[in-house]
Amino acid sequence: MIEPPNIAEQQQRAPDTRMMPPSFDPDYVHGVIREFLKTAIYQGETPLLPMIDFALSKEAAIPPHIFGMLYDSWKPDTDKEGLSVFLQAYGDRGEHNERKRIYFSAQTPDLYLPMYSGKVQHFLDRLFDKAHREKPLMHFYFEEYFDLYWDLHLGVKGRDVPADVRQIGKSFMAVLGYWYPTLQIVHDNYMQVRQLRQKLKDWIDRHMQDIIDGRMKNSEKTMVHYWVKNGELGPNFRRQDVVFECFHNFLAFSQWGNTIYNIMLRLQQTGGDKAVRTWFEKTMKQPDETDQNAFTRLDRFVMELFRTISPNAGSYSVLNVREGAFGTGYTGNSGMITPHPESSRNPIHWKNPNEFDPDRYIQAVTSEQNDHARSKAMGLEKCPFEQHKWPVKDGRKVEIANSSFGAVYPRLDGKASPICDEAGYAPFGFGYRRCAGEFLTVSFIKDFLRKVWADKISFKKLSLEEPALLPVGPLTVVPDNIGFHQG
Ligand code: HEM
Repeated sequence: MIEPPNIAEQQQRAPDTRMMPPSFDPDYVHGVIREFLKTAIYQGETPLLPMIDFALSKEAAIPPHIFGMLYDSWKPDTDKEGLSVFLQAYGDRGEHNERKRIYFSAQTPDLYLPMYSGKVQHFLDRLFDKAHREKPLMHFYFEEYFDLYWDLHLGVKGRDVPADVRQIGKSFMAVLGYWYPTLQIVHDNYMQVRQLRQKLKDWIDRHMQDIIDGRMKNSEKTMVHYWVKNGELGPNFRRQDVVFECFHNFLAFSQWGNTIYNIMLRLQQTGGDKAVRTWFEKTMKQPDETDQNAFTRLDRFVMELFRTISPNAGSYSVLNVREGAFGTGYTGNSGMITPHPESSRNPIHWKNPNEFDPDRYIQAVTSEQNDHARSKAMGLEKCPFEQHKWPVKDGRKVEIANSSFGAVYPRLDGKASPICDEAGYAPFGFGYRRCAGEFLTVSFIKDFLRKVWADKISFKKLSLEEPALLPVGPLTVVPDNIGFHQG
């Protein structure tokens, strides 16, 4: 009698691609659908301290069906093809999280005004062009978005961004937004990303070389300039890693779209959020007033938007296997989410977690305050992370410091420019793996709000029969149904 295959054999068996839509590439079925079906993602705990332990690792920490978007062989090949700090365990990042500090050196707040804000202003002026009034705005957002993206990374925009480079960005967004690999739209865009990726990498590499050789005007207005200067193309930020970060950032920056969409929803005159609108008006009367605190009124307003919108739903970690499933040694792909909305609204941390209250950050603890003395006061024998200051190598008087919980923040000319380092403030993640683009993101949103205020822009839902659907961030597709008017 023919015996059925045992469990181990079943696990090894390649999926029968005949059972998938015939339009799906068989390599895609093996490399993507199979990984997706093998993956379980668990909901984890809300942290009591603003950190995530090393047991929840960042090594290759994205849902594995995404790897084919980043690597030719459908799985990580970091030596040859490069890697992102996002995907690396703490212990491999160099001393004191060096790779993260190098990345961060391009994002410190002193750079925003002289280097990046002109690019953002240009983007916002075009976004709110008079001709766009009363029309679906996210469409125009994405028309301008890749120019801003490449301008910030490489100082290239307009006609210098080739059609293929724009296309791969759009396809990347489509995969992230629609997410489920069983969808035809995901399959088609995924394969498009794979087809265009090498071209994109060569293009990035050529522009990086222009920056290195001093052939590019104003190259200090690009992120790549700081990565090259401070990483020196050494082991913790190799040439292939700079290239990799430039396109892996499609993921990070994609969250701006979702954030902008949600802010517009809240600021709408009709159907918006009254508390948010009232605070907005109050804040914009004196946006730069600090009230003798670490954050200005506008900072606090934006932080509260992030806490309540939570565009990033959770920090993703990989779990180490201790025992495999009985008889097979196989556990599937396990990931764990440290949830952000739940952490940010945890009543253990705030007395009014469900209110929109930017003034909560007047009292909130900062990364500068989370030091040795505070760890002691909390009953800890030593800081979970040794505090270390890392001077940048690009000629600025900037040190990248870290709190006792590992969160990296800058000291500019000896003065701290801290972040809120509370377990109840989760939108940018926690500890050593906290978002490296937080300052840039907050500055971008602040400029967006200043523009809205200065130009008397108000948002409203458009009555459209069938608004276009747009992918605006991981697992997020929204109807393009918000427009603006002025005055
Ligand atoms: C709305 C915008 C953004 C949000 C909500 C956001 C949120 C986050 C969160 C929650 C994490 C932690 C992930 C984890 O621990 O698993 C993170 C990490 C990171 N983010 Fe962002 N991010 C945003 C934009 C950006 C931008 C624009 C950049 C780059 C300029 C960036 C660069 C990074 C990097 C490099 C990390 C990895 C840090 C590490 O592992 O050490 N992010 N981000």
